[in-house]
Amino acid sequence: MQRMKIGLCGLGTVGAGVVKILQNHQKELHHQTGCELEIMKILVNDIHKKRNVQVDPDLLTTSSDDIVENEEIQIVIEVMGGIDEAYHLVKRSLENGKHVVTANKDMLAEYGLELTELAREKGLDMFYEASVAGGIPILRSLKEGLVSDRLHKLMGIVNGTTNYILTKMDEDERGFEDVLAEAQELGYAEADPSSDVDGLDAARKIALLARLAFSMPVELDDVEVRGIRKISTEDMKLADQFGYKMKLIGLAARDEDKVEVSVEPVLLKKDHPLTSVKNEYNAVYVYGDAVGETMFYGPGAGSLPTAVAVVSDLVGVVKNMVLGVNGTSYVIPQYAKQLKAKEEIYSKFFFRMEAEDVAGTFLEITKIFTSAEISLDKILQLPKKKKQTAEIVIVTHLANKAQFEQVVENLNQLPIVHQLKSIYRVEEQA
Ligand SMILES: NC(=O)c1ccc[n+]([C@@H]2O[C@H](COP(=O)([O-])OP(=O)(O)OC[C@H]3O[C@@H](n4cnc5c(N)ncnc54)[C@H](OP(=O)(O)O)[C@@H]3O)[C@@H](O)[C@H]2O)c1
Repeated sequence: MQRMKIGLCGLGTVGAGVVKILQNHQKELHHQTGCELEIMKILVNDIHKKRNVQVDPDLLTTSSDDIVENEEIQIVIEVMGGIDEAYHLVKRSLENGKHVVTANKDMLAEYGLELTELAREKGLDMFYEASVAGGIPILRSLKEGLVSDRLHKLMGIVNGTTNYILTKMDEDERGFEDVLAEAQELGYAEADPSSDVDGLDAARKIALLARLAFSMPVELDDVEVRGIRKISTEDMKLADQFGYKMKLIGLAARDEDKVEVSVEPVLLKKDHPLTSVKNEYNAVYVYGDAVGETMFYGPGAGSLPTAVAVVSDLVGVVKNMVLGVNGTSYVIPQYAKQLKAKEEIYSKFFFRMEAEDVAGTFLEITKIFTSAEISLDKILQLPKKKKQTAEIVIVTHLANKAQFEQVVENLNQLPIVHQLKSIYRVEEQA
């Protein structure tokens, strides 16, 4: 039986899962590939660290050269994380003729286009299914299952930490800081949660999804990003009254040849399937011209779910090696990147503001929307909390971002509006 030799870089959460899947699913993997998959070396920071998986201590090394320069190793699995070191390791591996499997969205968001091009030039495979939505096979679904369709929109809950926080804020009516502290205690959020709660992690993932879905070289800088720190339970309760649920949504949409890509808190109608995605779960909703609407749901992280995605990529590489077709399944962007202008990005908007409770207030506020040619869908005036103030909530009909910005600027200048408390994008249809 042919032996495929693997260098594993990283033996943390995902790396340990990879070892376990290779150990526990040997029979299935033999059947799928007809080969024996052998880990020859494992790169770690500390070879003396206690591990929660059994490996031969002789396999451990702290020198990347033992993998990258090792002529016997044919496939490198990079699950160590970080950006620059991982990039250099992957680049050197490809330059030395090794196929690569990685789970590293941070590195791919910055260097993915360059590394994909290098792999293609060299006739090598570079797969990265685990980098987006962990155990959900969404990248393969876009590259293969939906490849014959023309996709026009993707909406994803692709960050488990923020989905957990928003679920708890909504269900338990607890504030952001309180739930974040609990998530940190439970290990769902990092000690420094900024990459998750400020939307960067989701932005990296939606950039990768948009690249594949629209075959365009979308980059991290193209993603408009807003996180969840400013969301209040009052916003959620009001949204609920209007029939919406709040989710942090990575959105990528295409009209004709132009795209928009964003990550922001979005109000979804309660009957949208993404509102049923709770706690740390992930889901990606895909709208295709022919297929209509499909949703991919599952665990977005975790040792074994993520390792399944990594080892499935490994199986893909090995099958290609057996058939001699490596380096042929690339999705090199087909179209030049064209981003939509503000005037071309449409949605409904939710406004919540505190205003003076005097005759004519409503008229003044609606005038501002009218002058921007935005019509209103729903309006609510809440009982006064402070003397002579009224809380007003408005949901608009569809408007473009330029009109929206004009309204925000004018409301901020209107003396009777004391405070524009919150504004959210509202998504009701494809
Ligand atoms: N965790 C998840 O659920 C998940 C899901 C999807 C994708 N990912 C991605 O998968 C990758 C790995 O995540 P993880 O959670 O498994 O990370 P982790 O638990 O921190 O493990 C990282 C591993 O890499 C080793 N390592 C890190 N930097 C190294 C370096 N410069 N030289 C040598 N060894 C190094 C560490 O060695 P020591 O053990 O000796 O410290 C450790 O074994 C990341 O890119 C992450 O974004 C993770």
